[in-house]
Amino acid sequence: MKVSSVLLVLFAFQAAVAVVRSTAPCTLTVGYYNDKCNRSVEGIVRDTVKAALNADSTIGAALIRLLFHDCFVRGCDASVLLDPTYSNPYPEKTSGANIGLRGFDVIDTIKAKLEAACPNTVSCADIVAFAARDASVYLSNGGINFTVPAGRLDSVVSLSADAESNLPGSTFEVSKLISNFAVKGFTPEELVILSGAHSVGRAHCSSFHDRLSAPLGEINPYFRDNVLRKDCGAGPADPMVENNIRDQNATTLGNLTGYVVPANGSDLLDNSYYHNNLNNLVLFHSDWALIDSSATLKHVHEYADNGTLWNLDFADALVKLSKLTMPPGSTGEIRKMCRATN
Ligand code: HEM
Ligand SMILES: *[C@@H]1O[C@H](CO)[C@@H](O)[C@H](O)[C@H]1NC(C)=O
Ligand SMILES: *[C@@H]1O[C@H](CO)[C@@H](O)[C@H](O)[C@H]1NC(C)=O
Ligand SMILES: *[C@@H]1O[C@H](CO)[C@@H](O)[C@H](O)[C@H]1NC(C)=O
Ligand SMILES: *[C@@H]1O[C@H](CO)[C@@H](O)[C@H](O)[C@H]1NC(C)=O
Ligand SMILES: *[C@@H]1O[C@H](CO)[C@@H](O)[C@H](O)[C@H]1NC(C)=O
Ligand SMILES: *[C@@H]1O[C@H](CO)[C@@H](O)[C@H](O)[C@H]1NC(C)=O
Repeated sequence: MKVSSVLLVLFAFQAAVAVVRSTAPCTLTVGYYNDKCNRSVEGIVRDTVKAALNADSTIGAALIRLLFHDCFVRGCDASVLLDPTYSNPYPEKTSGANIGLRGFDVIDTIKAKLEAACPNTVSCADIVAFAARDASVYLSNGGINFTVPAGRLDSVVSLSADAESNLPGSTFEVSKLISNFAVKGFTPEELVILSGAHSVGRAHCSSFHDRLSAPLGEINPYFRDNVLRKDCGAGPADPMVENNIRDQNATTLGNLTGYVVPANGSDLLDNSYYHNNLNNLVLFHSDWALIDSSATLKHVHEYADNGTLWNLDFADALVKLSKLTMPPGSTGEIRKMCRATN
């Protein structure tokens, strides 16, 4: 065989492995990239996330939500990152369920650095998982810290309709939330654990307009009328409000601050969500709904009572989330750019 045809065969073999590898028996491993790149892949992700969060810590919440919205729709495959194209005008990110999704530019920056360090090696799906971990470490001041198994591939399929049908809605009742999470293999306790991510971040008023007329038993009336309604009535058509009452403008909060769990400042990822929930001081109906059933209420109490336990269990639940796989028979690749298939 001539050298050129040996190379050709080799190239074809590698291409086949990289592009057509099926994802069915997905085995992810911690330290997956240790022997695949001369530079530290996870170090590059961490440093880039740190720099982004030093500039704007609110992006941390966006990166955590990105993992949830990627993994609940066709598994953790970076399908949420794909931009509209002529042949696929409505990918996941155009879905109403993905309103407000942010952090795409941070993922792009990380990907560009990794392509420079070791081209065609690191999947966008793994970047999303690493970045969500690093954001969690940062926003919790190291209280949440865990290893992320890697080796995911990027999908070539992304449909708005899949996001609509798989992601939970903010007006869901507790029974619907429980069954939505059960479809993905998550228990009511894990639903409660993961919802604690709403201790950080922000939301558009359109995502909780139902709460502006929620009855007294479901929301603190001062919070409803003097904080949420006021913020939503002012400014642009669909303004943003902090998910956690702790992160609201202190002036607007007035004497409601007495209820609020003390914190070290805004954007702290901690168990304050559970204290606030027990005080009817959470944003979405789907948050409040967790105290509307004994199966979930007992866990709201559990995590309000023990922040260390929540840190540990949240880490475990994020790892479990990050292991959701693509539908059987799907093909994967390592994208060159996270917003487009190769
Ligand atoms: C239990 C069902 C859930 C519902 C119904 C829900 C719904 C929402 C909604 C409506 C928003 C605001 C979007 C906007 O208006 O811009 C939001 C924000 C957010 N969600 Fe959830 N969510 C759920 C679970 C989760 C989970 C499991 C996580 C992560 C583990 C998560 C993390 C976040 C974060 C961090 C934000 C703030 C994002 C930002 O600041 O950009 N959520 N969620
Ligand atoms: C990685 O380092 C090895 C040993 O120094 C070198 O031979 C190889 O060319 C490097 N690979 C890349 C992609 O830089
Ligand atoms: C997170 O854990 C890693 C590995 O155990 C450790 O090296 C690192 O210092 C920890 N980070 C923080 C912020 O605690
Ligand atoms: C807080 O709200 C008050 C009253 O609406 C406003 O004057 C002030 O600028 C706001 N502060 C911040 C930091 O947004
Ligand atoms: C808090 O504010 C509400 C509404 O303005 C008022 O009715 C209530 O008396 C105040 N409570 C305290 C302790 O200042
Ligand atoms: C608050 O800050 C102090 C000092 O910086 C730190 O020791 C403590 O762990 C922080 N608390 C939380 C809940 O992060
Ligand atoms: C909180 O949970 C941690 C971790 O499971 C445990 O070690 C600790 O004893 C718990 N604290 C209390 C007060 O129960």
